[in-house]
Amino acid sequence: MDATTVAGCFRDKSILITGSTGFLGKLLVEKILRVQPAVKKLYLLVRAADAASAEQRVFSDVIEMDLFNMLRKKYGLPGFQSFIQEKVVPIAGDIIYENFGLDNLRADALSKDIDVIINGAATTNFYERYDVALASNALGPRNACEFAKKCPNLKLLLHISTAFVAGTQEGLLLEKAFQNGETLREGYYMDIEAELQLVDKIKSELTAAKSGTLEQLKKSAMKELGFKRACHFGWPNVYTFTKTMGEILLGQRRGNLPVVIIRPTMVTSTYQDPFPGWIEGARTIDALIVAYDEQAFPCFIGDRSNVIDAIPVDIVINAAMVAIAVHWNEEAQVIYHVSSSLQNPLSLYAFEDACMDYFYINPRTLENGKIVPNKRPYVFKNLSFFRLVLLLVYKLPLQMLHVMSFLLCGMFSQHYNKLNRRLNFLMLLVKLYAPYAFFNGRFDDTNLSRLWSEAKMDGGDDSIFNFDPKRFDWHSYLVEVHVPAVLKYKRKEKGRA
Ligand SMILES: NC(=O)c1ccc[n+]([C@@H]2O[C@H](COP(=O)([O-])OP(=O)(O)OC[C@H]3O[C@@H](n4cnc5c(N)ncnc54)[C@H](OP(=O)(O)O)[C@@H]3O)[C@@H](O)[C@H]2O)c1
Repeated sequence: MDATTVAGCFRDKSILITGSTGFLGKLLVEKILRVQPAVKKLYLLVRAADAASAEQRVFSDVIEMDLFNMLRKKYGLPGFQSFIQEKVVPIAGDIIYENFGLDNLRADALSKDIDVIINGAATTNFYERYDVALASNALGPRNACEFAKKCPNLKLLLHISTAFVAGTQEGLLLEKAFQNGETLREGYYMDIEAELQLVDKIKSELTAAKSGTLEQLKKSAMKELGFKRACHFGWPNVYTFTKTMGEILLGQRRGNLPVVIIRPTMVTSTYQDPFPGWIEGARTIDALIVAYDEQAFPCFIGDRSNVIDAIPVDIVINAAMVAIAVHWNEEAQVIYHVSSSLQNPLSLYAFEDACMDYFYINPRTLENGKIVPNKRPYVFKNLSFFRLVLLLVYKLPLQMLHVMSFLLCGMFSQHYNKLNRRLNFLMLLVKLYAPYAFFNGRFDDTNLSRLWSEAKMDGGDDSIFNFDPKRFDWHSYLVEVHVPAVLKYKRKEKGRA
């Protein structure tokens, strides 16, 4: 199979995509339109009040991005606009509902035209409300699956999950499906229906108890509940916990439906396609880049010898498209880790080195023209010790400031509140991210390697659908592409704020 065959699969086909306003979704839309201009329709399901707002969202959040510049250049502006109008169909909908909340007539008409469904929509917040995460990440894939089964011409449902459904397990983590009820803690059984009922029960108890600040109360109670239930079953956060439920429900419901589950690890900026360094948001490890830049933390936690599993976003999109072509109409479920830790490992130390090298080459200057020195932050290998340092160096002096402020009639209360908020935020980051700072697993990618060799993408035109994690050099990618991309994005965002 060569690139022409992969692109050929999308010819005259209608694809329903959820999550197109997100980071991966936009890139997917652009790539399909670029490599297969003869695609029949791309139905983009977005959350919006009505058809007009859906159209507005698709144009402002997706099509207007610089990501589409290659296409704009190819067609010229008027040509680009009519190309988009012909191919892209915005639909107002929400994956938390059966039939995505579409009325029967609309759902029926849509189902008759769909060949492939790509479900990328999810809430990616590690500290999301449990009710929200359950609805989007667990029930969302279930609803996508039920809708897929109603599509008479459906060739495949591709669901984007995450490699971190594996939680914080150590060793080699396999591309295998979760069984119904399976958890990451021995002796525990997860009943998704019971979790949904628990959420309803707690929400109605809250409604009965309070009225005034109910929404705020519900919000914090639901966030804590999600975190607690995730930890109870062995996951470090509600995001990965509910993404696992999504996979389980999909597996339970799919019947004979052809399903591919893509599990990327931590997704970074584009390596090369459509141009290097496209990114949206500063996520996961990017927080470290921003922290180095702002010299925000003198220290952090982790083990420098540990491997960070990251993967450029265009590699993920390419793997997804090739998997669609290879598993077209195959009545099976296949899982792919799109990861780097096995074939092209990146240690935290090497990541840090690349950041340092970037800042040596591009020194930061203060307003007075002085160069900001490059300091390696101190890395604590022991979480309890780190917590103790936070207590002694930050928490206790802050409490003293609080007492002083009280004695001086609130003289320092503003300053205290500001520092206290920062400390609480840092503690929340530690609570949510510490498990990953010490992550010691490697993602097996046997299926992905097989896909690479079976699809024979090595044939010369491989760069169009390159998804070989060995093909890039981390150091040059980080120094020349990713670190500047994150900083550019961050500075632009600050400028907008
Ligand atoms: N980014 C990563 O590092 C990473 C790593 C591994 C896996 N993944 C997976 O890749 C997928 C895409 O991630 P991303 O980084 O692109 O996320 P993202 O930027 O946060 O985008 C999430 C998308 O999902 C949509 N969405 C959320 N809930 C929805 C709902 N109930 N109904 C319809 N649409 C909904 C959002 O729409 P709105 O614009 O309306 O909010 C947005 O378009 C997710 O499934 C995620 O779990 C991401």
